[in-house]
Amino acid sequence: MMEELLEKIEKRRTFAIISHPDAGKTTLTEKLLLYGGAIHLAGSVKARKSNKHAVSDWMEIEKQRGISVTSSVLQFDYDGYRVNILDTPGHQDFSEDTYRTLMAADSAVMLIDAAKGVEPQTKKLFWVCHRRHLPIFTFVNKLDRYGRNPFDLMDELEKVLHIRAYPINWPIGIDGHYKGVYNRLENSIELFEEDGSHGAKKLKSTTGSLDDPKIQELLGDELYENLCNDIELLDMAGDEFDMEKVNNGELTPMFFGSAMTNFGVQAFLEKFLELSPKPQPRKLQDGTMLVPENEEFSAFIFKIQANMNPAHRDRISFMRICSGVFDKGMSVYHKQSNKVIKLAQPQQFLAQERTIVEKAYPGDIIGVFDPGIFGIGDSLSDSKLKLQFEDFPVFPPEIFARVQPKDSLKRKQFEKGILQLSQEGAIQVFEQKGVGLESFIVGVVGVLQLEVLEYRLNNEYSAHLLMNQLPYSVARWVYAEDKKLLDNIKGLDNGMLVYDKKERPVILVNNEWSLNWILDRNPGIQFLTVPADVEKI
Ligand code: G4P
Repeated sequence: MMEELLEKIEKRRTFAIISHPDAGKTTLTEKLLLYGGAIHLAGSVKARKSNKHAVSDWMEIEKQRGISVTSSVLQFDYDGYRVNILDTPGHQDFSEDTYRTLMAADSAVMLIDAAKGVEPQTKKLFWVCHRRHLPIFTFVNKLDRYGRNPFDLMDELEKVLHIRAYPINWPIGIDGHYKGVYNRLENSIELFEEDGSHGAKKLKSTTGSLDDPKIQELLGDELYENLCNDIELLDMAGDEFDMEKVNNGELTPMFFGSAMTNFGVQAFLEKFLELSPKPQPRKLQDGTMLVPENEEFSAFIFKIQANMNPAHRDRISFMRICSGVFDKGMSVYHKQSNKVIKLAQPQQFLAQERTIVEKAYPGDIIGVFDPGIFGIGDSLSDSKLKLQFEDFPVFPPEIFARVQPKDSLKRKQFEKGILQLSQEGAIQVFEQKGVGLESFIVGVVGVLQLEVLEYRLNNEYSAHLLMNQLPYSVARWVYAEDKKLLDNIKGLDNGMLVYDKKERPVILVNNEWSLNWILDRNPGIQFLTVPADVEKI
């Protein structure tokens, strides 16, 4: 069994793609599935954006909007590897779920539009990965059309994200005259052949080394010379390739390509699988690390999706396996409730379908039916281990609203619903002192979460909401050695003092300017982006 476990770990890759909307994440995901043989004609994943719903036909709101509200997991095999792609929602559906999904990954692929460079959402997600020291692989997309100079893009990564880049391949021909890529680690050139299928099928390519006369001839003098100059410059002035730095998230291997036309996708996939980390050890509450090779099963829950099937009110909890082997029908110890629980109907998400899973290994994600006892960040393990993984970070909400039930007779359902959604981690709940429990303040990361809140309270708890969005966009947890200072926070005229569910004081303000106003007036008080007792993300 040990041998089997080691083998499975060695060949597993679990990663998330981080990007700004429209950089091409859906397209790239689809192409990876195409090369992995999980789909045969590109276009099927994309369809979920229009009106066909294959994978995530779970909530009415998704159907109405043609988007997937919560992240899903796609799995495929390639060249002996088992690949798990964690899908990070990125459009209006950007939410804490997006951040939390990154907790389940061992590495991230940062997808950048060649013409646009580093965009705001990429930046936010990058920092979450970076603070966890996740290895980050960069794919510069859309090279089939006008793009910025690749040297500029490398510069931007360094200036904006403070990460050095090592281009593994280098584009030959830019501005839409893309011919292929040069692989610096292997000194080989791959030239692409147009096949007229516009990316629906895998691309054919011709390969050769830089000094191969056939390749020189195919490129023409100008392109050939430019390429030689670029490579010389990179070799002289660029970083050396250092796997340790990559593993610490200090150096990002960089690839160029075009997901739409498939240029460079296969080369990227192969190198990525070779260089990216297998399932990594995970930190426990007591500060020690748990290695995936530990034969006893362990996992943590990173996402809860309620009512995937509206016909029967179900909740599915998604867990990332951290060690040992998962067997269908097994019972595990749930730390938070101190109970042994049988995991019911475990499911895996193979490309487009949900299937019942018989066995799963570290790095895999499975979803189980949950009677309502699991919470985000909960630990599950073999009864011999009874372990607890470190707490999930708290992500600062950016959008706030005051909510109360329209009909005060529905107060009970309303409170139950709010509690449930806060347990799922869909919203953060705050209370304002002195106004009683008439209303709550909810905080979210993405605006769609407010719509989801309204919809779900209505549909699942038959509680109509009165909701008032508040003009705040910044939350800071307030902390002071001298507790008396907290009774008299100055300069709050443009803000609001509330308490989180652990009774910790939090101020909400309009913008950084108002925050600075308060900072200046309250020496001795710290205003933190996350609670003082939670690890900073
Ligand atoms: P997202 O999931 O990151 O939001 O991006 P998505 O894949 O949906 O891609 C956004 C747009 O960029 C799409 O165009 C897509 O076709 C295009 N795109 C993706 N990769 C490439 C590429 O390598 N080159 C070029 N030129 N375009 C690319 P759209 O017009 O919004 O949609 P569609 O009509 O093409 O489906």
